[in-house]
Amino acid sequence: LSVLSVASELYPLIKTGGLADVAGALPRALAAEGVSVRSLLPGYPAVLRQVPGAEAVLDLGWMFGGPARLLAAEAAGLALFVLDAPHLFAREGGPYAGPEGDWPDNPQRFAALAQVAARLGRGALEGFRPAVVHAHDWQAGLVPAYLHYGEGPRPGTLMTVHNLAFQGQCAPELLGELGLPPESYSIHGVEYYGAIGFLKAGLHLADRVTTVSPTYAAEIRTEAGGMGLAGLLRDRGTSLSGILNGIDMAVWNPASDAALEQPFSIDDMAPREASRAALRRHFRLDDDPAAPVLGIISRLSWQKGMDAVVEALPALLGHNMRLVVLGTGDRAIEAGLTRAAEAHPGRVGLHLGYDEALAHRIQAGCDALLVPSRFEPCGLTQLCALRYGALPVVARVGGLADTVIDANEMALATGVATGVQFASAERDFLEAALNRLALLWSDQAGWRSIQRNAMACDVSWARPAAQYAALYRAIASR
Ligand code: ADP
Ligand code: GLC
Repeated sequence: LSVLSVASELYPLIKTGGLADVAGALPRALAAEGVSVRSLLPGYPAVLRQVPGAEAVLDLGWMFGGPARLLAAEAAGLALFVLDAPHLFAREGGPYAGPEGDWPDNPQRFAALAQVAARLGRGALEGFRPAVVHAHDWQAGLVPAYLHYGEGPRPGTLMTVHNLAFQGQCAPELLGELGLPPESYSIHGVEYYGAIGFLKAGLHLADRVTTVSPTYAAEIRTEAGGMGLAGLLRDRGTSLSGILNGIDMAVWNPASDAALEQPFSIDDMAPREASRAALRRHFRLDDDPAAPVLGIISRLSWQKGMDAVVEALPALLGHNMRLVVLGTGDRAIEAGLTRAAEAHPGRVGLHLGYDEALAHRIQAGCDALLVPSRFEPCGLTQLCALRYGALPVVARVGGLADTVIDANEMALATGVATGVQFASAERDFLEAALNRLALLWSDQAGWRSIQRNAMACDVSWARPAAQYAALYRAIASR
């Protein structure tokens, strides 16, 4: 089965969040399921630099004010199509924003991506006819629309939403410029509260819709979690489902991780102490191996509940716990964490920025990983934490609810706990979770058995890839 995957980021070429991890790892996992995936992504400078051998395979003509062509390349074990349109993508800055905020032509940039995907879907490139086009997030949201409104036979379409908070909207006046027919501007098309909604279009017009965990799939059908799209998502009935993410077991493997002091594994945990000590040194924490270190690796945004962490800090320190944070994002949250770190040297460590290797070292060296999200479609850091023997301490939402087994009385009695859950990202709940965590820590033998359960979890792509493969087959034979 041949699939075209369309995403605006893809690890290891370009990444701002978990979407890139998924877009990079899922195609490799699908190979084992007999699904052959080619991935289309924009030709940002960072991407073009990493595919020096790319070959031009299709002249795409003039798109939104400049020439465009399609490149084909292999990188990181992935079969790639790169949309090379310098006037749209050859800019230094992030994939979605420059120093002055969002790129003003984002609608055109990602409409171009979607148009190319639709053309490929209809066989524009000789020898390539995907049975399914898989669109990720709002940047690919118009793919199902272009295929729906186009002429002739089309491939099946799957829209996956990784985060409903980002929907991609633009003024209705752009309809013609984006190449959408007048009749598409309706509640049954791309129209969304008087604007053109990229994600809305995909969610409504794709053959099937998935999100990245079963619990998030349920949450987004509610007014509280639906971010304005609950009605539409409810109407999708059983054509909306949740498939959990996995992590790349080769990228995240404590037994062979080059970023670590010493490799370790479930059968050989002693060397993990070296990573714990290294983490204390890196963040200049007091050298007290008996004090548990909590880690955070996160975008610093409202979604991620970081303000609750700052509020619960006195309780955390009161338990003689330490906190290390790696993240970047919202200026006010960065400032709050900076003040906390300055007020508590030796107890709170902070690294503002993006650092892959440090993320690995935190997973290996912290005792528990804190993920107090307000909502979380799936979340990947808690999966990495399970694999690296850091107990996830998570809010019971979205994919966090689906991937961590709370150390409640019954789970402890039956020996299945893998971490701690709390109701929501509010100070009182977080403090209660920290109380429970401190109790668990005080029984080191019990802690180690939870840690073993965590590390024994299957967080690979094997199960999710099989689910995607089955879904693609159902879509292809629709
Ligand atoms: P989201 O996509 O909402 O940001 P996820 O948990 O799905 O959240 O994915 C985040 C990914 O980005 C993980 O792979 C995590 O390790 C990584 N990450 C987040 N912040 C940083 C950072 N400051 N430095 C390095 N990696 C980070
Ligand atoms: C989004 C979500 C996150 C999810 C990731 C990959 O960024 O916020 O929860 O893990 O996409 O699906």
